[in-house]
Amino acid sequence: MLARNRFLLLVVVGGAALAIISLSLQFLNLIPITPILEERPFQAADGVVGGNLGKSRKRVFPVLQTQEPDPMAGASDYCNTPNRSEQAWEGHSPADYKLLSVQVMIRHGDRYPIYSIPKTKRPTIDCTLSSSRKPSHPLLNSFISHMGQGGRGHWEAPLSSVPRLPNHSACEMGELTQTGVVQHLRNGQVLQQAYRRHNLLPSSWSPPQVWVETTGKSRTLQSGLAFLYGLLPEFDWTKLTVRHQWSTLFCGSACDCPARNRYLEEEQRRQYRLRVSDTELERTYVEMARTLGMLTRQLRAANPIDSLLCHLCHGISFPCVSTGNGGTGGCLTMAQFAVIRRQQFDDEVDRKRVGLYRKYAILAMYPYLNRTANKMERVARANEAGRQPRAGGEEVFTLSSAHDVTVAPLLSALGLEDSRFPRFAARVVFELWKSPPATQGQPKKKAGKGERSKAKDGELFLRVLYNGEDVTFHTTFCRSHDRHAGHPLCPLKNFLSYVRRDMFKVVNATSYQEACYGPPV
Ligand SMILES: *[C@@H]1O[C@H](CO)[C@@H](O)[C@H](O)[C@H]1NC(C)=O
Ligand SMILES: *[C@@H]1O[C@H](CO)[C@@H](O)[C@H](O)[C@H]1NC(C)=O
Ligand SMILES: *[C@@H]1O[C@H](CO)[C@@H](O)[C@H](O)[C@H]1NC(C)=O
Ligand SMILES: *[C@@H]1O[C@H](CO)[C@@H](O)[C@H](O)[C@H]1NC(C)=O
Repeated sequence: MLARNRFLLLVVVGGAALAIISLSLQFLNLIPITPILEERPFQAADGVVGGNLGKSRKRVFPVLQTQEPDPMAGASDYCNTPNRSEQAWEGHSPADYKLLSVQVMIRHGDRYPIYSIPKTKRPTIDCTLSSSRKPSHPLLNSFISHMGQGGRGHWEAPLSSVPRLPNHSACEMGELTQTGVVQHLRNGQVLQQAYRRHNLLPSSWSPPQVWVETTGKSRTLQSGLAFLYGLLPEFDWTKLTVRHQWSTLFCGSACDCPARNRYLEEEQRRQYRLRVSDTELERTYVEMARTLGMLTRQLRAANPIDSLLCHLCHGISFPCVSTGNGGTGGCLTMAQFAVIRRQQFDDEVDRKRVGLYRKYAILAMYPYLNRTANKMERVARANEAGRQPRAGGEEVFTLSSAHDVTVAPLLSALGLEDSRFPRFAARVVFELWKSPPATQGQPKKKAGKGERSKAKDGELFLRVLYNGEDVTFHTTFCRSHDRHAGHPLCPLKNFLSYVRRDMFKVVNATSYQEACYGPPV
């Protein structure tokens, strides 16, 4: 009862201060209610905790209190330190299939914390770029000089005033680091190599073929540019327009959805209840607060996990304070970090079991998925009509540079709930493929001029990849597709009917309108 009253009070406080990211929101460990809100760093931590739920659940579940998942292993996946080559399955298809379009959503790269732990020294990280500092990249110097000419590009307001490179010798809160830049130069280069032989973008690409959009944060804008530079080194600025998405949900003009907010609030209540029932977590926060000499709720509000993760990713030891500080003094420990992560892992499992987040995610990501589906259809139609060899004039490549609070609901809405929480520089890739014409290799039928039969034109297929791994057959819309019987790929129409109708089943509706505002009366 007490817990519930506290919750209600905090929601009211949070509601009043939503626009400025209130302390109570952080305390509640919330997902943003309005799309303007910044990402939740605790979610970042969820990623570490979550790991690969599918694989680790059996191991972790029965031993909740006695054996934590290995915090270092999860953290290193989350940090995504660019020091090894990675397997990438983008661009793979049966022979003779044609790649028509690629749409990518990324999470920004490694960044400085958004929160600081009071009374402790903030981690020392240099956010200027230098090829003599590790990690570096062969393209780093030319990227830096290319960004210097960014004034020649077109920037939707308010992006023109956002710095195009990180450039502070002591990182500012939330600033992209050199690691973050390198992560996305690598991402872009991986796709450049994957798509080279498919001729996705000719060097003479024209402006509508490349679509780049980002939120207004410098870390997403800079991440997007690094990715683009890896994909298209020395791209022609004059052809580029960088578009602004004001909402972290990339919902454009369709952001209004009252039901989405209700699901989110319910999800937050679930999350809160789970957390306050976790005595080990409570004890840990009390202990940490005592060390630092502050109130427990102050510490919670400071979201220590965000800062601790940054320490881990950059090989900096956890912060310490002396006894003179009002507390008992000492250092924050890996054991404490592990407890917070363990609870976040439990939270991921519980979240999935209860299903409220999924409902939220479906409504949150519909506008983006709808747009994605529409683009694919446009490209396919243009291709069918024989306009240009590569559907010239249509958006062939789309890059959306986003946050964890964008990528996480996207994964959930696609039914990829067992995936790892989006690490730094995570990428989700949608590829549209067309099979060779059915008549290939056979004598041409005597079809009348202007008659273009469907069978002749080849069929359309979709691949979905997450961090280079093909996850198409884990998605809700292609999980039951029998790839051995018919085609080795997932038909585009599965995706289209999922986005336009079937996914609303989860919220007992048949359309976005109905799901958001209730059935027509
Ligand atoms: C890459 O960096 C991580 C984190 O610093 C480290 O754990 C891992 O061993 C490194 N891997 C290689 C191949 O150097
Ligand atoms: C970074 O800032 C310094 C000092 O303000 C400036 O001299 C330098 O040109 C900047 N570098 C870039 C790449 O913007
Ligand atoms: C979804 O796409 C259709 C076009 O197929 C468009 O008319 C509609 O406005 C879109 N809905 C939303 C909510 O974005
Ligand atoms: C689903 O929607 C229908 C029609 O709007 C309604 O009659 C029914 O009660 C709803 N079912 C649930 C479980 O909400």
